[in-house]
Amino acid sequence: MSDAKRAAGEAAAELVEDGMRLGLGTGSTVAYFLDALAARGLDVTGVPTSEATAARCRELGIRLLDVATATELDLAVDGADELDPELQLVKGGGGALLREKVVESLAARFVVIATEDKLVDRLGDTFPLPVEVVPFALGPVGRRLEAVGFEIERRERDGAAYVTDNGNHILDARLPGGIEDPAVMDVELALIPGIAGHGLFVDMATEALLADGSGEVRRLTPRAAQT
Ligand code: 5RP
Repeated sequence: MSDAKRAAGEAAAELVEDGMRLGLGTGSTVAYFLDALAARGLDVTGVPTSEATAARCRELGIRLLDVATATELDLAVDGADELDPELQLVKGGGGALLREKVVESLAARFVVIATEDKLVDRLGDTFPLPVEVVPFALGPVGRRLEAVGFEIERRERDGAAYVTDNGNHILDARLPGGIEDPAVMDVELALIPGIAGHGLFVDMATEALLADGSGEVRRLTPRAAQT
């Protein structure tokens, strides 16, 4: 699996050009991308989507760009927990979903890097949907999600509630049978007070680089972009 992640990360690093302003995702696949990017020695800047990515960039000498001054990014690269053939995504396994969505919304091009097994027919099939919730609203949001049919689990670390970089908690929400219409669910969740963000990324990815165990990488675009 790590060979496939490395292959996807390295393929994405080849897309980067000198002078680009980048969105830098979070996770183990992105770690390979960052290594390959640093090895290319290009003059680029990047907005990190997590404290972990920021720390890794500092180690690798990748210059960081403050999101406050980043109006438009040339390219964002990030992993995903699931993607469907339309390149709708479930993200947030690493807990960085909120900053990822903010940063990736600024990018002209958003490339997902993942292993082939992350490609599913229907989102929510294999992975629960991470929902980031302000601590005050954990109870009410949990009940609202259950009313919609989700089975929820509070994410924990070391026996306590997991805390995101934004000081929030995460509910991992599983919908039996998966998410029928990601665009509808995207809006439904946005209307629940107390949800700071959720891991459904609808119509955001412009392409995906999917790698298999042999290190072969194929490029996928949403069906709309193929016509
Ligand atoms: C972090 C994410 C990651 O992109 C996602 O969890 C995939 O991670 P990995 O590359 O380690 O499989 O959304 O919030």
